[in-house]
Amino acid sequence: MKGAIGLIGLGTMGQNLALNIARKGYQVAVYNRTPARTEEFMRDRVKSEKIIPCYDLRSFISSLEKPRKILLMIKAGEPVDEMLENLLPYLEPGDLVIDGGNSHYLDTSRRKKELGQKGILFLGMGISGGEYGALYGPSLMPGGDEEGYRMVEEILLKIAAKTEDGPCCTFVGRDSAGHFVKMVHNGIEYAFMQAIAENYDIMKRALKMDIEEIGLVFEEWNKGSLASFLVEITYKILKRKDEETGKTIVELILDKAEQKGTGKWTAQAGLELGIPTPSLNQAVEARTISYFKDLRVTLSRKYENLPPIAPPEKKRTIEDLEKTLLFALFIAFSQGLWLISSASTTFNYGVNLSEVLRIWKGGCIIRAKLIDFIREIVSENPANPYLLNSDKAETFIKDKLDSIKNITKLASDFHIPTPVLNASLDYFFGITREELPANLIQAQRDFFGAHTFERKDKKGIFHIEWEKE
Ligand code: 6PG
Repeated sequence: MKGAIGLIGLGTMGQNLALNIARKGYQVAVYNRTPARTEEFMRDRVKSEKIIPCYDLRSFISSLEKPRKILLMIKAGEPVDEMLENLLPYLEPGDLVIDGGNSHYLDTSRRKKELGQKGILFLGMGISGGEYGALYGPSLMPGGDEEGYRMVEEILLKIAAKTEDGPCCTFVGRDSAGHFVKMVHNGIEYAFMQAIAENYDIMKRALKMDIEEIGLVFEEWNKGSLASFLVEITYKILKRKDEETGKTIVELILDKAEQKGTGKWTAQAGLELGIPTPSLNQAVEARTISYFKDLRVTLSRKYENLPPIAPPEKKRTIEDLEKTLLFALFIAFSQGLWLISSASTTFNYGVNLSEVLRIWKGGCIIRAKLIDFIREIVSENPANPYLLNSDKAETFIKDKLDSIKNITKLASDFHIPTPVLNASLDYFFGITREELPANLIQAQRDFFGAHTFERKDKKGIFHIEWEKE
């Protein structure tokens, strides 16, 4: 029997997806550039006859049903272009290629155009959920040729995570919508992770709590409005002891955060499209600062001189921290959704925000109870990309404002960096304020560069000879 779908790239994600597809009853042909990996996979992990190993592209192609459906699970960037080039001679009009990696949305756009000229359908599909998700149910964000989506819809819906609102997969939109949405998912992921880390740092350094006790707080939070995958893994991480030393493992992990680029791309997209995403951007900056460990050690000797301050009242501070994290999370989602909405207009994606939120409810890294609340806001007025502009948001935010003010003040007293919490609060202050000091910026620009300005009291474009008496 021929493969209903072919999968190229047997890294862990590729292997797990192939197993997931086979478990759902579909025949999958698999191919990996290095044949040893395919052999190893077949030997160590494959028990089902549904997986057809292929050791060269020609036999891979001929083992697929027509029109062919090929899922690429290879490293984003040049490897994708190289693989497409190798595949092209074997493909026919009407075949479909799906890129399931974390590709940059502009690359996806270009590839879709290039393949389209040859009659080949293309989907850029965001896949979230890590190794476990790939095996048991990821969140899938396919975008591109809708006709191509319909060819694999049945398989994708079956392998995706399920929630009470259905499978976590939908046709996200045209062109590079799938990869754009996945990129923003990761931008929110960065902000969410960093906001959690800031809360942990405050409990550790201002409240002087030990790691296990902090873990219990996250465990408690995970039972309420903050219930989410990231809060859940955090309490599990904080509980884990090092077998060798008996110490909490998190304290032994070097404090230098890595990044593969999707967070940075989100920040860049925000800057390009002119949509403010400061919480997301600051999460990237925080990782970058963390990377300079040696410099931080040197500078800490010069500057880390904390005035003696009494620890704050614990119970109230923990309550404030919970509300602060909710505030920051809500703001991160609101920035991300606005960015997606703006991209959808600019690139004509046709994204439905409520559907995006629906498929983020399960399987993905940012799945969180709060998404249900955000979906309610979006469904009240789907054309409104500004979450803050709703009565529900107003009540939610006002309930948390004093808490985040207390916490950011406290963090500052203790010299604890809280870039995402501060960015969330500052963003809120800025975007909800009628008057900003941008009038002075305009005057300065006009002063040194004759850049002109508008006035509040009359229409037109103005310029002043500032140095002329
Ligand atoms: C997901 C994750 C996944 C990956 C991140 C890691 O949704 O499953 O986002 O795609 O783990 O891209 O990114 P960094 O290495 O940049 O933290």
